[in-house]
Amino acid sequence: MADELLRASGLESGYGGVQVLWGADIAVAAGETVVLLGANGAGKTTLLRVLMGLMPAWRGTITLDGAAVTHETTDQRVRRGVAYMSELGVFPDMTIADNLRIGSRFAPRAARAAAIDALYARFPDLAGKRRSLAGSLSGGQRKMLGIAKALAGRPRLLVMDEPSAGLSPLYVAEVLAVLGRFRAEGLALLIAEQNVAFLDLADRVCTLERGRTVFTGTTAELHANDALERAYFGLT
Ligand SMILES: Nc1ncnc2c1ncn2[C@@H]1O[C@H](COP(=O)(O)OP(=O)(O)OP(=O)(O)O)[C@@H](O)[C@H]1O
Ligand SMILES: [Mg+2]
Repeated sequence: MADELLRASGLESGYGGVQVLWGADIAVAAGETVVLLGANGAGKTTLLRVLMGLMPAWRGTITLDGAAVTHETTDQRVRRGVAYMSELGVFPDMTIADNLRIGSRFAPRAARAAAIDALYARFPDLAGKRRSLAGSLSGGQRKMLGIAKALAGRPRLLVMDEPSAGLSPLYVAEVLAVLGRFRAEGLALLIAEQNVAFLDLADRVCTLERGRTVFTGTTAELHANDALERAYFGLT
């Protein structure tokens, strides 16, 4: 793959003695958007957590820019240019300003203030509330803060866990629009989702079923596969 940023092969992992990932493969090129589709409990969150080093890989390998990072810490991976936005995304008991400061912690010190100011310019709703607690924001604004926090470290790849979770369709559209703009500026995205609206952003789609990646291809190829089309779009 040209300009390969992230590649994971044969990942296996789980909780205690319970195996959840049984051979997951995923790759993201520089500037590419990959949507990881999967039903409840398929293992999407687990896969993202293993990619970020928040859980160990029992088997398999992960590379960033071709370098093996399978045994690196989360912080080391973040320093290589990967940001992670969990489903919660923000620290509700901290102010907006402090959330962004935490997000920028691995950026070069001299670049942090400028990175945060640039984000306030992109998210004016947040700029007006920088001393407010993140927990006081609406669900949609909180999601925007989560995105801003993740981007405050100037990552090249943003890994997101179900950005649509808990949002009204109106806010989902807003999140899609915001992500679309950063994508157009060259940010690579890996988005775990159940909401097929996110396929509009995708260069490629991966499907995860019971801990295994079973399909990788374009959205058009997914539509062309009758079984997958039925599974993910509910059409008969
Ligand atoms: N902390 C945990 N301890 C034990 N088992 C867990 C834990 N977290 C998740 N699991 C189990 O691992 C499996 C995969 O869960 P995971 O959260 O990765 O799925 P998911 O695809 O993200 O689902 P969802 O769409 O509901 O977020 C499920 O069977 C789940 O019950
Ligand atoms: Mg999940």
